Amino acid sequence: MAELPQRRAVVTEIPGPRSQELMARRRAAVPAGVGATMPVFAARASGGVVLDVDGNSFIDLGAGIAVLNVGSSAPLVAAAVAEQADAFTHTCFQVTPYEGYVALAEKLNALVPGEVERRSFFVNSGAEAVENAVKVARAATGRSAVVAFDHAFHGRTLMGMTLTAKASPYKRGFGPLAPEVYRLPYSYPYRCACGAPYEECGPACAAAAITIMDRQIGGDRIAALVVEPVLGEGGVIVPGDGFLQALSAYCADNGIVFVADEVQAGFARTGRWFSCEHSGIVPDIVTTAKGLGGGLPIGGVTGRADLMDAVHPGGLGSTFGGNPVSCAAALGAIAEVETGDLLGKAVRIGDIFTSHLMPLLQDCEAVGDVRVIGGMAAVEFVSDRAAKTPDGAAAGRVLARCHEEGVIALRAGTFDNVVRILPPLVIGEDLLVEGLEVLEKAIRAL
Ligand SMILES: Cc1ncc(COP(=O)(O)O)c(C=O)c1O
Repeated sequence: MAELPQRRAVVTEIPGPRSQELMARRRAAVPAGVGATMPVFAARASGGVVLDVDGNSFIDLGAGIAVLNVGSSAPLVAAAVAEQADAFTHTCFQVTPYEGYVALAEKLNALVPGEVERRSFFVNSGAEAVENAVKVARAATGRSAVVAFDHAFHGRTLMGMTLTAKASPYKRGFGPLAPEVYRLPYSYPYRCACGAPYEECGPACAAAAITIMDRQIGGDRIAALVVEPVLGEGGVIVPGDGFLQALSAYCADNGIVFVADEVQAGFARTGRWFSCEHSGIVPDIVTTAKGLGGGLPIGGVTGRADLMDAVHPGGLGSTFGGNPVSCAAALGAIAEVETGDLLGKAVRIGDIFTSHLMPLLQDCEAVGDVRVIGGMAAVEFVSDRAAKTPDGAAAGRVLARCHEEGVIALRAGTFDNVVRILPPLVIGEDLLVEGLEVLEKAIRAL
């Protein structure tokens, strides 16, 4: 199918009549608990645009929440999916294995940083990948405690929501939560939990986190430290220098499995295959999902061979995990990143973000912080700059304006006061700039 015209066009009120009809059907058929960022229904998507059922063409600065790094229906993904769907759609890898699963495991084992022998297995989502990383760490260490961080998001399953920091909407009414999960401060330089200045936040928060592990939990009781090397849902927070390195060293010294949750910031999003590469650390286990499948559901757990092989046969797996069509899609998506230089494109997108968004810090009282790392950026809103009072309403107004004007952008942050942008890495530069101009205008109008 031909690529959609890469342009923004709002041709009806938002939502248009057909979307309104579908929204009414949705309300009657789907529970309200399933959130809705946009009130429009998609008809098609490609490159940097999503076309709705009323003919409105939106600039996509959300990529289906950091999934469409290679774009929607990327050619190498679509071709691999069609070929695999024609051959067979399912056998269950544990029953009758197939080559695509093994080929994808080999690829991820090689891509994860560090010269370490690794193994990978596949599940259906990011949450399931995190759950399984914890299972592996517990089985390999014989320990039970797990540590996670402030502002973290790790999914909506029992362990996923327990590891997740934010109570509402993720945990409210869903208890009791999983036992033996402890929370540590994350280095958030703009709001350092230790009160340190921006450049000293990394070592300060690492020291505080290590003291909690050492003194309150006991390093020798901890199976896994689960951390996002760059926080996604937490508001695109890049930890201060030294934070991840100090935690990684503490884990190595105490036999704790360091799990890097790369579900959102991994797979080329930040200009590296994995966001942990920015700090030079080598995780024991890496979890992936989102961008990995090029739009098809798949999660991956890639870890040190000695840890992964500690689990007894039959202890890992799932009926659909590493479905052959999803594995084919993932191999296609990896090929798209490699042949399309999407690592380089993510860096270039980061430069464009910086040149458009950083001036807002000077010009707009409501902007407290701007954060950019490759193809991931965030603008954090405050009602009082000196007190850094979070202003969720301002973020809401900016998002509403963007959506009305034909730009998809996302909300994030513990205080709901962050606008997050994560375009497909294949977006055209002119279209990206147009989308950013709409965002800038909405922010300047606050
Ligand atoms: C860092 C991180 N981990 C885990 C998850 C959960 O992934 P999924 O929604 O595929 O279960 C997410 C989803 O946003 C995420 O950002």
